[in-house]
Amino acid sequence: MSIRRLPEQLVNRIAAGEVVERPASALKELVENAIDADAARIVVSLAGGGIGRIEVADDGCGMAPDDLALALERHATSKLPGDDIDRVETLGFRGEALPSIASIARLTIESRVRGADGWARTVDNGRLVGEGPAALPPGTRVVVEDLFGKVPARRKFLRTERSEYAACLDVVKRLAMARPDIGFSLDHDGRRILSVQPGEDRPARVSALTAREFADNSLAIDYVRGSAHLGGVAGLPTFNRGIADHQYLFVNGRPVKDRLLIGAVRAAYQDLLARDRHPVLALFVDLPGDEIDVNVHPAKTEVRFKDPAGIRGLIVGGLRHALDAAGHRSAQRPSAAALGNWISPSPQGGEGWSEGVRPRQYALHGPSRSSYADTPSPYPSPPWAEGTVSDHHAAYSPAARAEPATAPPPDAAAFPLGVARGQVAATYIVAEAEDGLVLVDQHAAHERLVLERMRRAMANGGVARQALLLPEVVELDEPGCDRIEARIAELAEMGLEVERFGPRAILVRATPALLGAGDVKGLVTDLADELAAFDEALSLKERIDHVAATMACHGSVRAGRILSVVEMNALLREMEVTPHSGQCNHGRPTWVKLAHGDIEKLFGRK
Ligand SMILES: Nc1ncnc2c1ncn2[C@@H]1O[C@H](COP(=O)(O)OP(=O)(O)OP(=O)(O)O)[C@@H](O)[C@H]1O
Ligand SMILES: [Mg+2]
Repeated sequence: MSIRRLPEQLVNRIAAGEVVERPASALKELVENAIDADAARIVVSLAGGGIGRIEVADDGCGMAPDDLALALERHATSKLPGDDIDRVETLGFRGEALPSIASIARLTIESRVRGADGWARTVDNGRLVGEGPAALPPGTRVVVEDLFGKVPARRKFLRTERSEYAACLDVVKRLAMARPDIGFSLDHDGRRILSVQPGEDRPARVSALTAREFADNSLAIDYVRGSAHLGGVAGLPTFNRGIADHQYLFVNGRPVKDRLLIGAVRAAYQDLLARDRHPVLALFVDLPGDEIDVNVHPAKTEVRFKDPAGIRGLIVGGLRHALDAAGHRSAQRPSAAALGNWISPSPQGGEGWSEGVRPRQYALHGPSRSSYADTPSPYPSPPWAEGTVSDHHAAYSPAARAEPATAPPPDAAAFPLGVARGQVAATYIVAEAEDGLVLVDQHAAHERLVLERMRRAMANGGVARQALLLPEVVELDEPGCDRIEARIAELAEMGLEVERFGPRAILVRATPALLGAGDVKGLVTDLADELAAFDEALSLKERIDHVAATMACHGSVRAGRILSVVEMNALLREMEVTPHSGQCNHGRPTWVKLAHGDIEKLFGRK
């Protein structure tokens, strides 16, 4: 298809704005052009995070020498033959990308149509500096060098090479996911980063580009609503991540970052995931071209839907359908009225004993609320926590048993959270307090306690480490490894001793002692995600709550673990002396109480 200059009235309708902001945006345009040229293989190589050099070679249709000259002009495209900007079938349509890149870098484009000779042109920051015959196989090769090299005001807004490289990798991954029929490879600074073969099926391509385990932890989606189709793979709620970056969304084969779609995904998983956890998924929405407008954003990353509510319904419906069929139904929620009868801790948590019940043990055993940090808890630490249980302290442990109560618990009055009577669903501790019934979410509560312990340890000069018997190798994508590597010294202060182990792995030698040896892989993966959300300028200390909370989550008693009565009581006792223990790290209550009076009301006795 030959290239033509767009007529004025069409140019004026194209969403104006900056096309190239950073190497990743230039790379995106070049790979999109290769896809539009019907390439079967696309070879990308980068140097210096793409700031130094970006090269994209394809085996697509190529351009004749005349077209090559036009391709570098503004508003010249082969992709809108019918002036119909409302029905775009290609990724490009504006004729803006190549001239925009050529105006802020040195761009060489070589191209050859099958059966003809090749031709090359070089434009340096908007000026044609050379052209002539070129020898290359049929297809096109574009080299972009020294991006923003002559625009210092723009160059200084670029981030580190490492960040720019991470953004480039993300771009290639998303486009490669959109087109499993095409082969892609990516090299950075001479190293092969990614390589996928042409002709893969979608699930295979998605798992090749995300995580190997994703295939085993995801569901295939195939759902139709009206004229729209939703396909792809969605991660099980348990296969979640700390950031939403692992959500790959496509509309008619175009990678998009669209708020409507992201909101719909969130809604579909809402009651299956904690608020700060995100599913991993790759979703492909396909609908007739006239039902979306792709001409809304200069970087073509957003689209506008004619029927937004229908699209939301498609996504929520399709995901719920698949998730429910997989037996991951949402937990039934108690009604608001029923919940209203339960007393929750005040927002300050530990300060919530206002119903006339003061924890007697403070008076008996000394430690005042304000001095908790320096005084050891008078109660045995839970066996999973740091330190050991001394016999002397164990004497204070109430003697409750996980059996039906036959007599009033001896010590209930002394303990605001009561004595443990048993465990429900291996998730909640049921305790009997002097004035009512207490339910504790064991995971949420313990997570909070671990976080508070970590904070104390940090304040007192660092967190003790515990060496792993066998160092553990954790595989991560390269940007994730880079982020962890950049923080090695700071992580060591928090008790996590790691080393870089090749391009895509981290070696973990020691973990914070108070976490115990748990899910090391999950911890490191989540930390990498957490770091991705950081501003590079911030130190871990400034974000200690986030990092410590991520660690605490991994060091906590999971829901689903059977606890002994001693363990349950130890947890209750520690909650009573730990500030903020009434809320978990995500802001939900860790315990609720139904007072005797409320129980009587429930049974109509009052
Ligand atoms: N790799 C390629 N192979 C073949 N033709 C290409 C290639 N890259 C660009 N072209 C031709 O050059 C033209 C201009 O490319 P450019 O990226 O500037 O604009 P576009 O793709 O038409 O629209 P957009 O600005 O939205 O990307 C294209 O329309 C296409 O005809
Ligand atoms: Mg283009």
